[in-house]
Amino acid sequence: MDKPAAPDYPCAMASHAPIGILDSGVGGWSVLDEIRALLPDESLIYIGDSAWCPYGARPADQIQQRVFQLTDRLIGWGVKLVVLACNSATIAAVEALRATYPIPFAGMEPAVKPAAAASRSGVVGVLATEASLAGEKFHRLIHDHAGGVRVITVPCPGLVELVERGELSGDRAAGVVNGYVAPLVDAGADVLVLGCTHYPFLRKVIEAAAGPAVTVIDTGAAVARRVRQLLERDDLLASGSDDARLRVLTTGPEEQLRQLWPRLWAQSADDAELGRLEE
Ligand code: DGL
Repeated sequence: MDKPAAPDYPCAMASHAPIGILDSGVGGWSVLDEIRALLPDESLIYIGDSAWCPYGARPADQIQQRVFQLTDRLIGWGVKLVVLACNSATIAAVEALRATYPIPFAGMEPAVKPAAAASRSGVVGVLATEASLAGEKFHRLIHDHAGGVRVITVPCPGLVELVERGELSGDRAAGVVNGYVAPLVDAGADVLVLGCTHYPFLRKVIEAAAGPAVTVIDTGAAVARRVRQLLERDDLLASGSDDARLRVLTTGPEEQLRQLWPRLWAQSADDAELGRLEE
């Protein structure tokens, strides 16, 4: 991954500085969960851009502009690394961000490579947003890593909205999910890649629609390991959990955040500071 050899953000380059995490809404909590579990000593500041959600229906230049604005806020708070916990934002902006800011960025990458390796049928399905699937970076990934396996991509409008509403089960969720998953299973897919960070919250519904012969994989844990690797590389790992803070901010209504947090967050919800990001 690219990174300038001599970062000129000395204030951000301290091991006790927080890690910044961005997503279009609550989806990135699936990645936050993995980072918090793997790196409990790190302070984390999460921005969920619910006011602009869904990113997946927006053109790439609009997503990129917005992600730069939010990254500026995080960098203003002295973060030492930014995680784009959003496939759509990664595809639209990560290369431009790396070329602009002298801190490391960890982005999402749909797990096409492990999926191709795990498939016995030779058919892999990728569920993602329209914005992700429109990105050239995504097609490069498939071209480079699909390894002779047939990859069927499916844009899934509506799934992000279900998660943002906290609708993770029930007939309506099952109906929408089934509309996307059934054609993939019919086409012979035996591995499904969750190419959007919102989708792990629908994993049970997706697995039920796909049936027991299909493996469902996502990238959250791999991104957490990548974050640890980048921090180790730069000697920026925090140690001593006493000061570790978890701040979760939204650009949307704070009430919605307060309702969803205890429902979607798998770990102890008590120690998080929840709030609204004033713009
Ligand atoms: N969670 C995001 C992703 O991984 C964005 C979903 C959206 O806002 O459309 O792509």
